[in-house]
Amino acid sequence: MSGYVLAIDQGTTSSRAIVFDENQKIRGVGQQEFTQHFPQDGWVEHDPEEIWQSVLATVKAALKDAGIAASEIAAIGITNQRETVVIWDRATGKPIHNAIVWQDRRTAPICAALRKAGREKVFTRKTGLLLDPYFSGTKIKWLLDKVKGARKRAKAGELAFGTIDTFLIWRLTGGRLHATDATNAARTLIYNIETNQWDEELMRLLDVPAALLPVVKDCADDFGETDPALFGAAIPIRGVAGDQHAATIGQACFAPGMLKSTYGTGCFAVLNTGTQLVRSKNRLLTTIAYRLDGKTTYALEGSIFVAGAAVQWIRDGLKLVKHASETGPLAHSADPGQNVYMVPAFVGLGAPWWDAEARGAIYGITRNTGPAEIARAALESVCYQTRDLFEAMRRDWKGGGNDTVLRVDGGMVASDWTMQFLADILDAPVDRPEILETTALGAAWLAGMKVGVWPKAKEFAKRWARDRRFTPAMDAATRKAKLKGWDSAVKRTLSQ
Ligand code: G3P
Repeated sequence: MSGYVLAIDQGTTSSRAIVFDENQKIRGVGQQEFTQHFPQDGWVEHDPEEIWQSVLATVKAALKDAGIAASEIAAIGITNQRETVVIWDRATGKPIHNAIVWQDRRTAPICAALRKAGREKVFTRKTGLLLDPYFSGTKIKWLLDKVKGARKRAKAGELAFGTIDTFLIWRLTGGRLHATDATNAARTLIYNIETNQWDEELMRLLDVPAALLPVVKDCADDFGETDPALFGAAIPIRGVAGDQHAATIGQACFAPGMLKSTYGTGCFAVLNTGTQLVRSKNRLLTTIAYRLDGKTTYALEGSIFVAGAAVQWIRDGLKLVKHASETGPLAHSADPGQNVYMVPAFVGLGAPWWDAEARGAIYGITRNTGPAEIARAALESVCYQTRDLFEAMRRDWKGGGNDTVLRVDGGMVASDWTMQFLADILDAPVDRPEILETTALGAAWLAGMKVGVWPKAKEFAKRWARDRRFTPAMDAATRKAKLKGWDSAVKRTLSQ
């Protein structure tokens, strides 16, 4: 069997497919952006058909780029934007509504009502999550409530729910398999992460019938084969993990205490806590890092909704730059004397604030403020938010100690300026790996390891290589003053 493994990385703003060879080197890439729909304030939707077409196109493009046939791929690993909900008709495979994206805030009233009824405790105890519109459960409820006839059809077993991985598995296998993995299930608000089962009490509270739900498997497992009509061969699908979990694996954060942070549309910091299910006292999430051979490894996670999306706004909304890569140099040229802060609460604030109603704000603008200061404030906001997570983790997990190194990945980490500021503000070293495609790499590892063409975890971890370490260089007084400004900016932005 060849050592080629194909990773499908279905993200929030683009779909990517990457062919890796047996040495984990990238051989071919396909990438396509797709449409973001904002039907109302705080609503975010995707067209599942457009996502599906983008996945088909990028897989074909990656194979072409690598110059190989589908039959040469040993296995596929899928990784995906998490929490986003699709419900489709089992008979036709057609979605009953657009996908409701993880960033979507429309279910804030459902969350508030459940909270008022005193239900947050039971959700948190069983799922490790909080009552926030971010997670899938209330989005499923909304669809079943609002789409005509949906709940009746769901109860009758005519409909299927899935996060994006599940939808893709269904489509790739020609409707033969309705399955997800433990990491994606862990984000739905109806999956018990202690017992590793769908939870009947939570399903009842959200009025979600069991007939709607997929089978939950390990991350490296048998997820069927692709329909040969799609790519010309039946390729085994053997790995699935939500993108942040795949990145944790791709960063080789296999040992308790290891921490990674991925800067995509949002930013997600994941701290491996091993077999220990750590309950946060600082409003972080407890989640499944990965599940292999039936063994669950847990994590603490801090989720920030807007990271790269702030840069995208600087580029597409404000049109301050043509390419995202110009943001770092522009920020670097900003006037150091100006204290401009941006709180990018475009879709509310995530951890540790969890304020669905907050909206973005910029503070400290003077007549001298221009594009450079705004760009710098956007990049700095991502670092400040990471620091809020980092502090919460330090307080929650004593095993973390104060010597933690942060492994970073995702589009934004290409900016040296941003990574240096991150190290400065965290007062901790930041390691950037050689392979920045860690999310795809993690998914590929699950599949490649499962079919035996890639090494086991220990050997795979040895191959992780650092491109550069950023060491803190800011003096304590400056850091303190900057953090004070940030804290006050966030507090002024909170909705109440
Ligand atoms: O929880 C949402 C997350 O999985 C989305 O990741 O990389 O698309 O911002 P990304």
